[in-house]
This record gives sequence, C-alpha cells and structure tokens, in this order.
Amino acid sequence: MATDFAGKTALITGAGRGIGRAVALGLGDAGARLILLARTTAQLEETRALVRERGVPAGRVSVLPADLADEEDRGRAVAAALAAGRVDILVNNAATVEPLGPTDGIKAGDLRLAFEVNVIAPAALTAAVLPGMLEAGWGRVVNVSSGIVANPAGMVRGNAYATTKAALEAHTVNLAAELRGTGVTVNAYRPGGVDTAMQAWIRRQDPEHIGSGLHERFNRNYAEGALITPEYSAAALLALLAGDDTGAIWDVSTAPVGA
Ligand SMILES: NC(=O)c1ccc[n+]([C@@H]2O[C@H](COP(=O)([O-])OP(=O)(O)OC[C@H]3O[C@@H](n4cnc5c(N)ncnc54)[C@H](OP(=O)(O)O)[C@@H]3O)[C@@H](O)[C@H]2O)c1
Repeated sequence: MATDFAGKTALITGAGRGIGRAVALGLGDAGARLILLARTTAQLEETRALVRERGVPAGRVSVLPADLADEEDRGRAVAAALAAGRVDILVNNAATVEPLGPTDGIKAGDLRLAFEVNVIAPAALTAAVLPGMLEAGWGRVVNVSSGIVANPAGMVRGNAYATTKAALEAHTVNLAAELRGTGVTVNAYRPGGVDTAMQAWIRRQDPEHIGSGLHERFNRNYAEGALITPEYSAAALLALLAGDDTGAIWDVSTAPVGA
C-alpha cells in the first residue's frame, strides 16, 4: 500500500475479525501503531499474530479487550489507550446488527443496546481522542456505516440497524462541519456486502423471525459470490483515509482503489 501512516497511532474497534481486522492489517502495513479493541481477547490475539507475521514489531501493536456497550469498560479502555499517548486515527468499526425481527417485538432495552454500540460508543470514543487530535492539528476519524442508510426500506425487520447507522452518519457529517479547518477529518464509510461473521450470522437466522425476504437475499448474495472480501473493503477505506476529505459518506463502490 502506498499510504504512509508511520508514526501515527490507530485505534480500531472490532479489530478481532472481519473488516476491522483487515483495516488493522492494512494500517499496520502502512506503518501505524495499532491498538486493537473488541470483546473477544482470543480474536484480538489472532489479529495481533497476523499483524506480527507481516513484520510489525511487537511494540507497535497492542490489544485492548473491552465491551463498547458498557460505559465503564469503554471509559477504562479509552483511558488505557490514551495513557500510551495520542490516538491519531480512530476507526469506529465495531457494530451490532441486532435486534432483527418485527418491530412490534423489539424491546426498548435491545434498541438501547444497539444505539450504545453503534452510535454512542463511536461518539464517545471520538470525544475522548479529539482533544489530542486538535492539539496536534491532525486526526482521522472514520465511522463504518452501511449502505442501508441510502435505502432504509431495503432491510425490512432491520429497523434498529437502519436507524442507528443513519444516526451515525448524521453524527459524522455534523461533527465534520464543526471541525472543518482543524486538520481533523471525520468521514463515514459504507463497506459494501462483505464476507464476514456478521453476514454469516444473518444467514443463520430463522426466516420466520427475520423475514423470508431478508433471509433469502443474504443467502442468495452469498451463494452467488456477490460478497467482497474484508481485505478489498479495507483497502478501499485506507485509500480514502489518506486524503483530506471530511464530512463525506464514502462507499466502497465509488472508492478509488480496491485490493
Ligand atoms: N459485513 C457486511 O456486509 C457489512 C455491510 C455493511 C456494514 N458493515 C459494517 O461493518 C462493520 C464491521 O462489520 P463486520 O461485518 O466486519 O462484522 P463482524 O465480523 O461481526 O465483526 C464485528 C467486530 O466488532 C466487535 N464488536 C461487536 N460488538 C462489540 C462490542 N459491544 N464491544 C466491542 N467490540 C464489539 C466484534 O468483536 P467481539 O464480538 O469480540 O466484541 C468484531 O471484532 C460494522 O460496523 C458493520 O455494521 C458490514
């Protein structure tokens, strides 16, 4: 990869698998120091091992197990990240697609949890790392969104997901306007249909619950080979991250490069 992020520190949420892992590998290749966050320590360690296999020294990658849904745990994690110095690049990638199903069966607590992981955690992490970025006059925040925001009716029985990702994009564009001229950019990224555990989990759900339309679409996309790889999507994101765009809703389909 041509992009050089040497000397920068990147905090990547959801770095234990899927798109987050691929972004971490790409940023490691580009010279960044990596802080890998997710709940599952074993998966974070797998990512760390993959990063190390590519020649990144041990001192350039650390793992930070934390549950982003838990305000206290999240606060502890971000404090630990910042204790080692400034975070220059924040990739808010972790998300939940739950709860799925008919909206009249969705409990308020489950909706609240989706907002906590998909909206509040990215906003809170951003707020925590922002002072350091502003002081440095340089920072990159990317919020991984979804194409669902362009077509909310396209994922019937995924109301919480559509709603939280729309909120995340509004947060992104508004914050970018607030920060214009500071050197800190804030963008959203729609990664495309990517072959990850999240997609596999949706395919396994009971069609009675998530609706046969949604179930068939996700299974058909997989069977027809329509999903892209996490590496392809991550490469497109990192190519965009190198520029000075801010307030943009990036989409893998219009990204300048892929892997
Ligand atoms: N795959 C697609 O087709 C697709 C399409 C559109 C948008 N996206 C977006 O792309 C991003 C990545 O998705 P993916 O497909 O790579 O998903 P994935 O394979 O399920 O990975 C999600 C990552 O987020 C972490 N995570 C989830 N909940 C967390 C929590 N409460 N606290 C900390 N970490 C948490 C997971 O680790 P733990 O479970 O160990 O915590 C995992 O590392 C998400 O924002 C998703 O909405 C994906």
